[in-house]
Amino acid sequence: MSNKNETILLREITKFTSREEAWDPFTWFKQMREENPIFYDEQQDVWNVFLYDHVKQVLSDHQLFSNKKGRSSIPFPRDDSRTNVNFCDPPEHRKRRALLAKAFTPRSLDEWKPRIESIADALVDDMAGLTNVDIVDTLAAPLPIVVIADLLGAPAKDRELFRAWSNILFLPYAMGSYDEIAQQKAQAIKEFQEYLYPIVLEKRKHPEDDIISDLIRAELDGERLTDIEVVNSSLGLLAAGNETTTMLISNIFYSMLVDQPGIYQELRTDVTLVPKLIEEVLRFRFPIAIDRRIAQDTTVFGHEMKQDQMIVAWVSSANRDASKFDHAENFNIHRANNHNHLSFGISSHFCLGAPLVRLEATFALTSFINRFSDIRLHEEFKVTDHLTDSISLKSFPISII
Ligand code: HEM
Repeated sequence: MSNKNETILLREITKFTSREEAWDPFTWFKQMREENPIFYDEQQDVWNVFLYDHVKQVLSDHQLFSNKKGRSSIPFPRDDSRTNVNFCDPPEHRKRRALLAKAFTPRSLDEWKPRIESIADALVDDMAGLTNVDIVDTLAAPLPIVVIADLLGAPAKDRELFRAWSNILFLPYAMGSYDEIAQQKAQAIKEFQEYLYPIVLEKRKHPEDDIISDLIRAELDGERLTDIEVVNSSLGLLAAGNETTTMLISNIFYSMLVDQPGIYQELRTDVTLVPKLIEEVLRFRFPIAIDRRIAQDTTVFGHEMKQDQMIVAWVSSANRDASKFDHAENFNIHRANNHNHLSFGISSHFCLGAPLVRLEATFALTSFINRFSDIRLHEEFKVTDHLTDSISLKSFPISII
């Protein structure tokens, strides 16, 4: 479990003073790339990098930048068990990841396609006849929850439970309310474990075609996983996948309405552009920063960095680095290299769920675009009225035609 001293507070580094600034950090990123690309935050003893090549190096060089870390900015209570894929480095990491990867084979993805498509279609069908919808509530939030509940093998009727747990797990640790938030998270984890445990016991007796059954069949160091390890690996997937996917889908709608109004009609005439749209939103408008521990004293970036200091790689800034993306501050789904964004990470820890996210977002958008002839932003819409404490869209009311 994390404690105060282990948590890096990113908001204490950015020091944004308003929600407007926090929602639009790109001016600060640009300034940092130009004036202060390697920035040391004294208060928390954390280095920060903002350029594409630096971010890529921090994420790729595990000998210098390790994932075995005491502190982290991940707002999720940590689990140091042998099944955790995040807080470890190769070669140990390879074994742990291989275990989870058994549930994410290309064959599983092929089998999941019709399930995901029908979940996306059903959510879009539910919007038929409506003129105003909150796209977070109707599509962006339920889609990943129903999908992960289905893929884990839990009944879809329990999706609200999954949603409530996932929301709590991602509450940011704000300085003042740390203990209270930590307690809420511990409670959500306990409830999730108690909920999933009997399901795991049942599936051990009667394995089915789902992720929990795949994890039950998998082996680590020649041993099967224990029931609680299967539960915790499932919890890890819930934590890794839900909020991120919700954020992606709601940001896609935001980009279609605010970053490039009118693009919806282009997508309607050629729905095969949807994957390009998804990659550009991941590049242009996806908030993500990843931390590592500096594993040995180094001057690799021209500054003296000490062993055991932390370093934050500001991925959302790297994704707007003009040396990698032409007119990087422009939203352009047609750019040839938009998939070179680093929003899924890179190298050994590259997001295991990336193919799943891409499927979910593609089915959701394709189904939506085929169904509705246009979307409109409400005149009175003010984004800062619709943000969670972690500065993602908690609601996004739009008109659908
Ligand atoms: C838009 C959605 C998502 C984004 C942007 C995203 C992003 C990321 C990033 C940046 C990493 C690398 C972290 C690091 O290097 O320390 C990562 C790792 C991971 N992601 Fe995702 N993720 C998304 C959705 C998902 C989903 C849906 C799942 C599974 C259900 C998932 C499972 C994982 C796992 C298991 C890892 C750990 C991989 C490892 O350490 O080897 N992610 N993700």
